[in-house]
Amino acid sequence: MNPEPQANYGQSSHGLRGDYSRMRADYTVDQEYSAYTEAQQDRWRRLYRRQIELVPGRACDEYLQALRALPYEQGIPGFEMVNAQLGATTRWQLVAVPGLVPDLVFFDHLANRRFPFTWWIREEHEFSYIVEPDVFHDFFGHVPMLFDPVFADYMQAYGKGGVKAEALGALPWLARLYWYTVEFGLIRTPQGLRSYGSGILSSPGEVEYAVTSPKPRRVLFDLHRIMRSRYRIDAYQETYFVIDSFQQLFDATEPDFTPLYSELRALEDLPADAALAEDRLVS
Ligand code: PHE
Ligand code: FE
Repeated sequence: MNPEPQANYGQSSHGLRGDYSRMRADYTVDQEYSAYTEAQQDRWRRLYRRQIELVPGRACDEYLQALRALPYEQGIPGFEMVNAQLGATTRWQLVAVPGLVPDLVFFDHLANRRFPFTWWIREEHEFSYIVEPDVFHDFFGHVPMLFDPVFADYMQAYGKGGVKAEALGALPWLARLYWYTVEFGLIRTPQGLRSYGSGILSSPGEVEYAVTSPKPRRVLFDLHRIMRSRYRIDAYQETYFVIDSFQQLFDATEPDFTPLYSELRALEDLPADAALAEDRLVS
């Protein structure tokens, strides 16, 4: 999961994980492909095999179509190969980073159609749950959506909006938009509810929970409501927001947020499980 500027991920560093000592000024590093061990490649294959069984019927078509065209069941992807495919489609590029990067660095990459991509893979004890992004989350969650032209433009617009939000002191609000769309977004389709959020699609448990469980609240996309809503990083989401199309998402987020931020300044945040009378629920 990426910037989540509010999230407070633990720093851990075994081996090269979280090694920020050899990075360039823009926080990028080289993907050290030869450093992956056979055990790590095997872990990748098992993560991939499990998750690819779970996404049909739960992920949106745009995601599934792109995923099927990506040949990485057999091992951790080399970035040049992914970049050749992405470059030819939406002109996005992956850049390797040691882990989470500062907000402005993150936004600047997105604004230039570069996705900061964690290159290391989780440990075995994190197989089913990891609290920070690794190469499996970043690839399986984020990369397929970068092939969709409208979503690709949304991600870039988000990066530009981030630079602006930082200057306006509005990051906590904007971060929630990323969380509730890019990471945990749902979409209504003629076939039913589907997910396009990376945090859902790379999670073995949440992928089913998000689209089928009666527990969480599913609210129709509402920019203002999203920006007021806190979120949990340590459990399945209590509220999901549902779009009807990526064009809707793009159009709703296109206007200048400056007046919206001024309005939000006067309002209290909402808890992650808030139930508002005016919520338009999706059943
Ligand atoms: N319109 C937003 C702004 O003025 C920019 C933005 C676009 C932010 C898409 C997020 C997502 O800040
Ligand atoms: Fe992410």
